[in-house]
Amino acid sequence: MKNIINKMEELNKKLKNWAIEYYENDSPSVSDAVYDGHYIELVSLESDYPELVLKETITQKIGWGINNKFTKVKHSSNVLSLDNAFNKNDLLEFNKRINNTLGISIDFKFTIEEKIDGISISLIYKNGILNKAVTRGDGTIGEDVTNNVIGILDVPKRIKYFQDLEVRGEIFMYDEEFKRINSISEKKYANSRNLTAGTIRQLDSKIMKQRKVSTFFYHLVDPENHNISSHSDSLDFIKNLGFRVNERIKLVLNIEEAFSIVKFFEESKKDLNYPIDGAVIKVDDINLWEDIGYTVKFPRFMIAYKFAEETAVTILKDIIQTIGRTGRVTYNAVLETTRIAGTLVRAATLHNADYIRELNLAVGDKVVIKKAAEIIPKVVSIHKKINNIKWIEDYECVSCSQTLIRFPNEVDQYCINENCKEINVQKLSHFVGRNAKNIIGLSIEQIRKFISLGFLTDLYSIYQLKNFKDKIVLLKGFKNKSVNKILNSIENSKSNEFYRFIFGLGIRHLGLKTSKILSKRFVNLETIRNLKYEELISIRDFGDSVSKSIIEYFKNDENNKMIDRFIEIGINMKDNSVIFSNILEGKIFVITGTLNKSRTFYKDFIESNGGNVSSSVSKNTTFILAGENPGTKKIKAEKLGIDILDELTLKEMVGK
Ligand code: IVH
Repeated sequence: MKNIINKMEELNKKLKNWAIEYYENDSPSVSDAVYDGHYIELVSLESDYPELVLKETITQKIGWGINNKFTKVKHSSNVLSLDNAFNKNDLLEFNKRINNTLGISIDFKFTIEEKIDGISISLIYKNGILNKAVTRGDGTIGEDVTNNVIGILDVPKRIKYFQDLEVRGEIFMYDEEFKRINSISEKKYANSRNLTAGTIRQLDSKIMKQRKVSTFFYHLVDPENHNISSHSDSLDFIKNLGFRVNERIKLVLNIEEAFSIVKFFEESKKDLNYPIDGAVIKVDDINLWEDIGYTVKFPRFMIAYKFAEETAVTILKDIIQTIGRTGRVTYNAVLETTRIAGTLVRAATLHNADYIRELNLAVGDKVVIKKAAEIIPKVVSIHKKINNIKWIEDYECVSCSQTLIRFPNEVDQYCINENCKEINVQKLSHFVGRNAKNIIGLSIEQIRKFISLGFLTDLYSIYQLKNFKDKIVLLKGFKNKSVNKILNSIENSKSNEFYRFIFGLGIRHLGLKTSKILSKRFVNLETIRNLKYEELISIRDFGDSVSKSIIEYFKNDENNKMIDRFIEIGINMKDNSVIFSNILEGKIFVITGTLNKSRTFYKDFIESNGGNVSSSVSKNTTFILAGENPGTKKIKAEKLGIDILDELTLKEMVGK
């Protein structure tokens, strides 16, 4: 409990400081993604422990952005901020919430607009004359920046409409102008939003004339006063009055279409010359707005979809060493939590010591991290050097303290202590892994525990774990049922595919693909054990390192003794998959969509008929095997003129 409260307090304190830097001083020290990452962490703790929510929590605070330079103005109605969506599911949830609140289940029309990354402004007109320009401030009270806003060329100072009117929109700066000013000004701004804010929220209105800022307006306050009942009409209305309205606005019929437009905006972001960081989805029918209602902070009839950033800037808090199953050292970055591509990231790989030196990294620096879907995040560059002390590589293994070594022509450092505990843990964990013997329920933490208790020693000992069953069930966190599950999975794994065993041995440089090739081509272990270097190196995909490494592995008596024991207890040492034919030789397939049988089935099917399977479509692809909902791969293939097959056609092709 105390821990949770401490964590919440820590997050809240950081977030508050960052919010002040961002909203009040226009100079954030962390990226939006880092802020969002911490924010999401706090929100999820609060929903797990509602009874511990801090009184002063930032998640309930409406807004920021007041200092005492400008006159304060109370907004006619609160300027709310928007709830965020990060993926399709969030959008569907948004739609569902609207349905639930209204108690009906129909499609709504939505307007989709780009979310401009500038600063928000409210303009008040009286008798057709610009009366006041007010920043968002804390949402309730803003700052009167009329003197500066008057200097913005595209803001109408007079309109041909004499009823009281309030419009809201965004002040921003085009990329060229941002670059131009940043190159001549003494203070360097991290992004155009900060520069825009710094321009509007300063007292010298002459500066306004030297910097060109622009506007897009996207909201009419109290539209019913002007007899307007849809958001898209309100945009036309203000456009006709002379306000700049973004042309890239779409009206769609339902949430699915909304999502396609959001994706389209995301893809075309790179072609724009103004800053956007997402899309805003708004229920078009204004008559529904009051019924759909509000939360404390947000309207429920609009949502901001934030684009997935592939990169984020965050702080490198520590560099730590991990040891792999071959003894290879990997350095990892411990990071200030950030959100990237919709997920929270706290760690990233730094590969090896050379990589860290090339980037000139040190603990404390601000770094750029990159994460593509399903790929482990990695530190790609330095954003800002903070620590000038040079980082020094580790000389000793973190686990056994033995001196690390470098093999000739290899960049990596290795621990070569055969008794290194960590290497052993990693070896066992690799052996039981999903692509190796696929033993379910035995996690790396459990392996560590069992080794420390003497229940596990080497790979072979996994098959003797059953002898310790009585002791294991007495351990905290283990029940009869879960232990049986592990032991059954161990027994079952004895007979699974032969390549799994070869891969599981953890021979240096021998990967999953090369293990499959070995097992298919040479069929049984006896043959593989006796292969010569020349035979190995002549196989496609086998280079010098892996060939040498295989020879070395089977030259070692200890390894052979262990394998003999595996044979004795009946571990499958033979590839039983029949090579049907070589009809598909030289053909490269990409599999996509939902098929009637698993992808592994078709991969094996193609490979056992001589073909190859690749994960991405390129001009080298021969065929696409497409199931239902094939997605972008099929589209790309069509563009490249690649033939598309269904399951039946593939089977007919090989005469099955
Ligand atoms: S509508 C007054 N539409 O995003 C209505 N907001 O995260 C406010 N923003 O405070 C929401 N582009 O500063 C809306 N097309 C757009 C927007 C937009 C940028 C900003 C606005 C708002 C913030 C919410």
